[in-house]
Amino acid sequence: MTELDRDLREAVDALRAGQLVGLPTETVYGLAADARNTQAVARIFAAKGRPADHPLIVHLASADQLDDWAREIPEAARRLAAAFWPGPLTLILKRQPDVPDAVTGGQDTVGLRVPAHPVAHAVLSAFGGGLAAPSANRFGRISPTTAAHVREELGDAVAVVLDGGGCEVGIESTIVDLSRGVPVMLRPGRVSASELSRVLGEAVLTPEAPDATAPRASGTLASHYAPNTPVRLLDAAALYVAAAAAARAGQRIGVLSRTLIDDAPAHGSVWLQLPNDPVGYAHRLYCDLRRLDQCGASVLLIEAPPQRAEWRAVNDRLQRAAADRPADGEGLPKP
Ligand code: TXA
Ligand code: MG
Repeated sequence: MTELDRDLREAVDALRAGQLVGLPTETVYGLAADARNTQAVARIFAAKGRPADHPLIVHLASADQLDDWAREIPEAARRLAAAFWPGPLTLILKRQPDVPDAVTGGQDTVGLRVPAHPVAHAVLSAFGGGLAAPSANRFGRISPTTAAHVREELGDAVAVVLDGGGCEVGIESTIVDLSRGVPVMLRPGRVSASELSRVLGEAVLTPEAPDATAPRASGTLASHYAPNTPVRLLDAAALYVAAAAAARAGQRIGVLSRTLIDDAPAHGSVWLQLPNDPVGYAHRLYCDLRRLDQCGASVLLIEAPPQRAEWRAVNDRLQRAAADRPADGEGLPKP
């Protein structure tokens, strides 16, 4: 038996015993529990410090299991599943009556996803049932994209953390709600609105702000995905000015840039440059934010990407990281 086989077996045993498992997926690491076991699901909320009325995504080995969890499944769902599963897309559908309230937050819908990561697939196939799995971070914090991040976030609350390497996509799945007649994107991700619309043959609504009737989604809270250090999103020119002022004042800053480079950052400041394309950028975003958050900076300056459709998912995460932070200019010396 290989080491991975042993780890897989240990993970499946832990899941059957109602324990939590750190699970690699192609988007971010999940904190998985048996979705039919309400005590196990309660452990997820306790470990994350997450409010109990926030619904969880149920992960499945295959789209063949859709009918075990959802009812009145529209043709649109079958089409999206055929086109994008296994992959970084979550479908919100009307739930089967026996799906535990603990999973759905008491709503009449359930979120379902078939992940593409081979380790997630192996665990789901061996386990057989659905696994409820939010991102494996503490509530409101940055999602983990490596096994080490999961340990950092959750420590001993997780029985087993499977190491599947760094996550390829790097940000959470696209969520599309198909329970309300018209398809509505609740969370942008790697699968874009135009790709969804092309497969569906109709427009997918992309509300900039979720309306009052939208189901609760913790990823839609303004200050989600936040580092501890205050974050400011700036264009290149403003970032350059702010960084120069910080250097003059002897202030340590963290910078996440796309185009700017500082070869010799002053006062222990750290500059990281991300690829200037949305896929490469998303892949590294959380990992680099985590690094910057730990460098002892008083503020993180992020070079804002363009406001274009292909950057939508990245911009969504950056805006949330920067939300509820000190007003513009606070914490920085005046230029
Ligand atoms: O990529 C992902 O989706 C990752 C990996 C682990 O699969 N999971 C993830 O889970 O991001 P979580 O719990 O961090 O975010 C799932 C989002 C939450 O904002 C939740 O409120 C929303 O999905 N959600 C789940 N079920 C829902 C439902 N029935 N209606 C509306 N939103 C739902
Ligand atoms: Mg999350």
